[in-house]
Amino acid sequence: MSSFLEVAHIQKSYFLNGKRIDVLRDVNVKIAQGELVSLVGASGSGKSTFLHVVGTLDMPAAGTMHFKGKSVFEMNDAEVAEFRNRTIGFVFQSHFLLPEFTAEENVAMPALILREDRKKSFKRARELLERVGLAQRAEHKPGELSGGESQRVALARALMLKPDLLLADEPTGNLDPATGEGIHALLREMNKDLGITAVVVTHNEALAQSLPRRLRLKDGQVVDA
Ligand SMILES: Nc1ncnc2c1ncn2[C@@H]1O[C@H](COP(=O)(O)OP(=O)(O)O)[C@@H](O)[C@H]1O
Ligand SMILES: [Mg+2]
Repeated sequence: MSSFLEVAHIQKSYFLNGKRIDVLRDVNVKIAQGELVSLVGASGSGKSTFLHVVGTLDMPAAGTMHFKGKSVFEMNDAEVAEFRNRTIGFVFQSHFLLPEFTAEENVAMPALILREDRKKSFKRARELLERVGLAQRAEHKPGELSGGESQRVALARALMLKPDLLLADEPTGNLDPATGEGIHALLREMNKDLGITAVVVTHNEALAQSLPRRLRLKDGQVVDA
């Protein structure tokens, strides 16, 4: 049986001013459907690089990735774009909400861009906002939301197209610890209730400990933490 996500022998280096930095040296990870995984590691250890590779935002120099048995790095551009749109949901440290649009419009945006049915999209956006506890903020624009609320909207938006895999890169990095714990509690709840599979990069060891499985990026490799 093929696993949900399997990355093998991933290598990625950066070249800057003639100097090579080997960030990912040999990354091997298997993640099962429904797993909620934290990824910790020192600043600069390659956590974001790893998430970008898994999310197909960046290509590795070597290695393979299989998603439900399909070899992702062998897909053509259109297939990769479809994979990224339909399979992956991203949450970043900054929420990247569009300032001109309301919370509800921001959540619905991924579906609107794909020209999905407007009415259905807004209905789902409302449901997701309710899910993250922000139904009463649907008409607020990002400038009228707190940091924690903005991040919850970003999480709702990441779930708009029902991704199979949620990738979160320090989603609580800009939040105070209590607000950050709220986001992690929400991730645990969504994992439990909706069966969402997620990899969450975090600096906060206590938050990492609160997730069922822990990975660490160290010396260019991913190891159990
Ligand atoms: N575009 C780039 N060009 C050159 N070096 C980079 C680039 N992106 C990241 N790096 C370097 O790669 C290393 C890993 O970066 P990153 O994956 O962002 O680490 P982390 O997310 O764990 O803090 C760092 O040393 C960083 O300086
Ligand atoms: Mg990073």
